[in-house]
Amino acid sequence: LRNVSIFEELPERDLEKIAKLGTRKVFSKGNVILMEDEIGSALFIIINGKVKVSRLDETGREVILSILGPGEVFGEMSLLDGLKRSATVSALTDTEVLIIYRDDFLNLLNKHPQIAISLLRELTQRLRKADMQIKSLSLKDAEGRIGCVLIMLADDLGKMYKGHVIVEGLPTQQDLANMAGTSRETVSRILSKFEKNGLIKIEGKKLIILEYEKMKQMFK
Ligand code: CMP
Repeated sequence: LRNVSIFEELPERDLEKIAKLGTRKVFSKGNVILMEDEIGSALFIIINGKVKVSRLDETGREVILSILGPGEVFGEMSLLDGLKRSATVSALTDTEVLIIYRDDFLNLLNKHPQIAISLLRELTQRLRKADMQIKSLSLKDAEGRIGCVLIMLADDLGKMYKGHVIVEGLPTQQDLANMAGTSRETVSRILSKFEKNGLIKIEGKKLIILEYEKMKQMFK
């Protein structure tokens, strides 16, 4: 739990208590963890693995809002405001989560205000990202939006290696298209163009961003 951002500043003995408070569960790749419009009262903390947060648009097409990884939290919205789940969350890889129920989590927030502050920080970052997505969806063409999605993946999941940013477990081209609001064919064409221009390299499921700074300038 040490890597969970909202628990960052807690002493070890408190982390042990929290670990006992929650229930660990493993979801296999592809399984739905929680569903849009359901009533929910649990919070999920990702121990390892990756999840996708998505909604269906009016034509039934999936729109991916975000991909979350180890140490990140989801399900906090319904827990806090009592409304229905705002999105569907499913496992992109085999994913282990710690589930904490509403009353236990609210008790934790009361006992450790630091967790509330960290959660606010995390939600603020989410809002910043959502603001960027709105800007990118409304102002940019497909190439700009795909560039933006790659930068977002690099910032969220990337690791620096020899001056490049590596993202393991690149989402499928269809998933990238759903994140960028475009078609799979366009994603395929633009990724080839980025590769040809020496911005990125793709090796199977690995995305290597060769020119991170340049891409950030181009697409942010
Ligand atoms: P909740 O509404 O309870 O269930 C769906 C969860 O998806 C939600 O809580 C958040 O944890 C998460 N979620 C919703 N929208 C976003 C977003 N734009 N970025 C990241 N996570 C989100």
